[in-house]
Amino acid sequence: MVDTLWFTLSVKLLVVIVLVSRGDADPLDSTIQRLFDKVYSLQVKRDEPFIPPLFWEKHKGMYESDVKFYFHGGPDMTLFRHSFKVYDDNMFATTWITSCLLEAYKFGNGPKPAEEQIVSAVASLKDYQDKNLNYTNSLMTFWPQHYNSTSNTWVSYPDNLHNFFELVGDFNWTRVEEILKDLGFSDVALIMQRLLAIRTMYLDAFLLPPDFDDTFVNLGVGSLLSSLADELPQSYQQWRSQNTNISSIFSALKRFAYRPLSNNYAINLIDERTYVFLRFFLEKLHNDNEDIALIPTWVQDLKEEEVWAKRGVHIPGNTNNVDVTVAANGVFGITSAILNGLLEPEILDDPEMQQIYLNTSSLIGFMISTNFSDRRDLALLYYPSEFEFYWFVARTYAELRQFSKKGPLPHPV
Ligand SMILES: *[C@@H]1O[C@H](CO)[C@@H](O)[C@H](O)[C@H]1NC(C)=O
Ligand SMILES: *[C@@H]1O[C@H](CO)[C@@H](O)[C@H](O)[C@H]1NC(C)=O
Ligand SMILES: *[C@@H]1O[C@H](CO)[C@@H](O)[C@H](O)[C@H]1NC(C)=O
Ligand SMILES: *[C@@H]1O[C@H](CO)[C@@H](O)[C@H](O)[C@H]1NC(C)=O
Ligand SMILES: *[C@@H]1O[C@H](CO)[C@@H](O)[C@H](O)[C@H]1NC(C)=O
Ligand SMILES: *[C@@H]1O[C@H](CO)[C@@H](O)[C@H](O)[C@H]1NC(C)=O
Repeated sequence: MVDTLWFTLSVKLLVVIVLVSRGDADPLDSTIQRLFDKVYSLQVKRDEPFIPPLFWEKHKGMYESDVKFYFHGGPDMTLFRHSFKVYDDNMFATTWITSCLLEAYKFGNGPKPAEEQIVSAVASLKDYQDKNLNYTNSLMTFWPQHYNSTSNTWVSYPDNLHNFFELVGDFNWTRVEEILKDLGFSDVALIMQRLLAIRTMYLDAFLLPPDFDDTFVNLGVGSLLSSLADELPQSYQQWRSQNTNISSIFSALKRFAYRPLSNNYAINLIDERTYVFLRFFLEKLHNDNEDIALIPTWVQDLKEEEVWAKRGVHIPGNTNNVDVTVAANGVFGITSAILNGLLEPEILDDPEMQQIYLNTSSLIGFMISTNFSDRRDLALLYYPSEFEFYWFVARTYAELRQFSKKGPLPHPV
């Protein structure tokens, strides 16, 4: 279910920002300026509380993204599907949009974002760093964490979906249905009923551990800001002040990487959907008896799951997986962080890091050459479009190419 939901998170703004002008043609420039202004206008300017049933909880600095629900039927259902949405409070959309704004400026003729716009977006990400660790870290959760004093645990879940389900849980549904039926919306009443029935499933499924996707998108923004430090010094400082222990990402990566030949069950088991598309790659390596390690999605393994699930932090479906776009995001994050001076190149002297970097890159190459084993649906679990995957791959390639024009790459790969 979490996958369905992620599929439906509409990061609508993104599409418009990546269209970057090349020439000085006036109409295009003014269109870009208008889109830029529109994006800015959609950034939340101050914290807003949830006021049922009309106003969602919103946090300063974040951009809008919405949870939509899939259902179909007659015209009333279509109308309802188009209009009904729940405002989401994830860090992902904001981080992506910030990346696109910065890249449109850096590589194209996009307008320069104001410091204030970037600083407040970056500042909003502070709530998403894992609070369950007793040390400073840059491991990011998709949704903000809330403290549960009974289990002494920080639990990550979507505020507005919770608010929404709590609100509808209090309705007198018999009465609401009667009204909807009188108005000729009996299908809608049925859908509301079904949404309500899966309420506990949603509430149970969305108690997420941190993940490498959000973690590396955050590192990607840090790298971009590092390359623009002269132009947006406050934004860069803001990011640095919130990310003082970047190496925490790599300790976690080494610990939770998927290692199919390991004899530790906590990291050698993988989600069956992953296995279906990955098995051709694994079989090829297995014939050569080659040990490999890959970037997984979740910052958790089965042993941790045994302890943390009870406390409200666990992977939906319990087993870690490999998503090829998440993997490509990881390779991009490491590459751009090294090339933009956020990380020392010596990090790749660590044989384990070298292995994860190389093996994940090999996976990406294999997936491109085999059409994702003809299972794009499973290989790109969280990103149904392959364009997002190619976006990460192309940016990694571009970073390497740009850098090698100026001199040798800082580390052999
Ligand atoms: C941090 O947590 C770990 C694991 O729970 C524990 O072993 C360690 O003593 C803690 N350190 C501090 C400084 O609290
Ligand atoms: C807090 O954790 C306890 C124990 O895991 C659980 O029963 C309870 O529902 C949680 N409270 C909230 C508000 O989520
Ligand atoms: C809910 O509404 C129905 C129909 O209007 C009514 O018969 C019933 O008593 C109400 N239930 C509660 C718990 O108020
Ligand atoms: C940085 O992260 C590592 C884990 O990777 C941890 O052991 C260390 O204590 C952290 N440093 C600080 C200053 O919190
Ligand atoms: C996996 O990493 C190891 C260690 O760096 C390397 O020797 C091997 O060639 C890599 N295999 C693939 C398929 O990338
Ligand atoms: C690639 O795989 C998809 C299924 O994911 C299939 O529909 C498509 O025909 C394949 N393309 C090629 C060129 O084989």
